[in-house]
Amino acid sequence: MKMSAALLAIALCCVGVHAQAQQGAAKGDADAAKGKTSMCIGCHGIPLYQTVYPEVYHVPKIAGQSPEYIVKALQAYRAGERSHPSMQGIAKSLSDQDMADLAAYYGGTPKQAAK
Ligand code: HEC
Repeated sequence: MKMSAALLAIALCCVGVHAQAQQGAAKGDADAAKGKTSMCIGCHGIPLYQTVYPEVYHVPKIAGQSPEYIVKALQAYRAGERSHPSMQGIAKSLSDQDMADLAAYYGGTPKQAAK
């Protein structure tokens, strides 16, 4: 009886830790991204603004995209599935947490305000 209670406690504990770790990996923190966007601003513009050099360079607007889309795009550049030299270079320097944070930041921008 004592034994099974202990096993149950261990099982509950591990499930809890595992669930937490999964949440942590998927959850982006928009505030944490604020120090990371300096890498993106030169090309993608300041969130809420249009791109800095739309006439020179076609850069897709990322503010207001869904966070899932932004993370997938960054992972695809890192994996080499999407090819663009500058974005591949950038994506390779980003951790999964960086990507989640940046996606939360850019993806969290309300579409209307992004005009
Ligand atoms: C040197 C310029 C440059 C920098 C710096 C840059 N990007 Fe990009 N980014 C681009 C260009 C150009 C594209 C379009 C590439 C293509 O056609 O695949 C792009 C595409 C993207 C896309 C895909 C958009 C879509 O609609 O599919 C995402 C997401 C993205 N960038 C995020 C970022 C983030 C986050 C950063 C900062 C960590 C960043 N970029 C920094 C130039 C840049």
